Amino acid sequence: MGGPVLAALYQLILDLVPYRMGLLRLLVLCTLAACCMARSPPVQPLPQRPFSGLHPLGCNDSQVLAVAGFALQNINRDQKDGYMLSLNRVHDVREHYQEDMGSLFYLTLDVLETGCHVLSRKAQKDCKPRMFYESVYGQCKAMFHINKPRRVLYLPAYNCTLRPVSKRKTHMMCPDCPSPIDLSAPSVLEAATESLAKFNSKSPSKKYELVKVTKATGQLMPSLSYHVEYLIREAPCTQSQASCSLQPSDSEPVGICQGSLSSMSYVPLIQPLENSVTVTCEFFESQAQVPGGENPAVTQGPQKLPQKNITPTSSPSVTAPRGSIQHLPDLDDKPEESKGESPEEAFPVQLDLTTNPQGDTLDVSFLYLEPEEKKLVVLPFPGKEQRSAECPGPEKERNPVLFSP
Ligand SMILES: *[C@@H]1O[C@H](CO)[C@@H](O)[C@H](O)[C@H]1NC(C)=O
Ligand SMILES: *[C@@H]1O[C@H](CO)[C@@H](O)[C@H](O)[C@H]1NC(C)=O
Repeated sequence: MGGPVLAALYQLILDLVPYRMGLLRLLVLCTLAACCMARSPPVQPLPQRPFSGLHPLGCNDSQVLAVAGFALQNINRDQKDGYMLSLNRVHDVREHYQEDMGSLFYLTLDVLETGCHVLSRKAQKDCKPRMFYESVYGQCKAMFHINKPRRVLYLPAYNCTLRPVSKRKTHMMCPDCPSPIDLSAPSVLEAATESLAKFNSKSPSKKYELVKVTKATGQLMPSLSYHVEYLIREAPCTQSQASCSLQPSDSEPVGICQGSLSSMSYVPLIQPLENSVTVTCEFFESQAQVPGGENPAVTQGPQKLPQKNITPTSSPSVTAPRGSIQHLPDLDDKPEESKGESPEEAFPVQLDLTTNPQGDTLDVSFLYLEPEEKKLVVLPFPGKEQRSAECPGPEKERNPVLFSP
């Protein structure tokens, strides 16, 4: 390239500079605008939509599944009785992001009872749902507060409703399957006592006694048999066992047993055979209980974020039970006309810390251990409206006898 060409180029550049400056400015402005627009949804200041801040999330999102897992873990830990629940699917979820406070999630969870008693405090992953013929299932609603930077996970409230699977349906699918029976039936008590006697006869030192039967099924084929699950505690000393340690007879359950009693004697033409008894017992991991209170160490679990689960002292609203699990009979017992109703009606779960559409505040200062007050905005529990299209999420257990929408 020669000098005149270069000069011409230079002139061209000079000519363009003012224009380029403008263009640059414009570009910068555009970039800024684009970046602000791109950033705006998460930073959207709450005042613009003060109390309609419920944001639907996908029910299969990994973050949502993690939150649901934490919530269910907390529900299970709050129980003194019954069996641990596992997540079948997330039915609905809303997030209420609150500046400086993190999020409050409103979760509707479809749950299945597992074979792990809550006192076993087993890890969720080791607890499988029960076989379809003895399923107990239902729905939980829970509010769950997460403040990640402050490492706070807190379950302010929950409520669940469970029902056993329809006996009629399971019987149609599998006539020979074991079927749940009334825990107070005499044969249930007999099965528990006989199997525990067998366990005690093999126990070298300590003897155990029945606390209560927690599960029972009966089966006709191949022989009449009863399967029972029951809690046991250490028996108080008797004269014949001078070496056993003295235990008050109202001591806590120490383990859970599965026993069975089978007999052929109901077949009239056959000589009554010896009853066949089986038993296996599992002892709970000993929990150092702080007398008169919950041991924070017990409520601390293998959670990824250390949980500030403080034993409340001053605030009575915090010491009150945060929720409960309601057991209803199976749907067979319902009158014919109420069949075919939606799961919301079949598994009614109420969970409202407020009825004020504008919301109320919940003092959670005790979670933060700071001088200033920390308050969460709590709204009435959201209904089905404006639910994410990705809800309910996929089921973990596809069970044809379970009632699902
Ligand atoms: C749910 O998420 C998992 C993992 O991200 C994916 O493999 C699965 O296909 C998703 N299921 C549905 C129904 O979207
Ligand atoms: C939980 O359910 C019970 C009825 O089973 C109800 O009385 C209670 O108010 C519910 N809790 C909340 C916080 O809504």
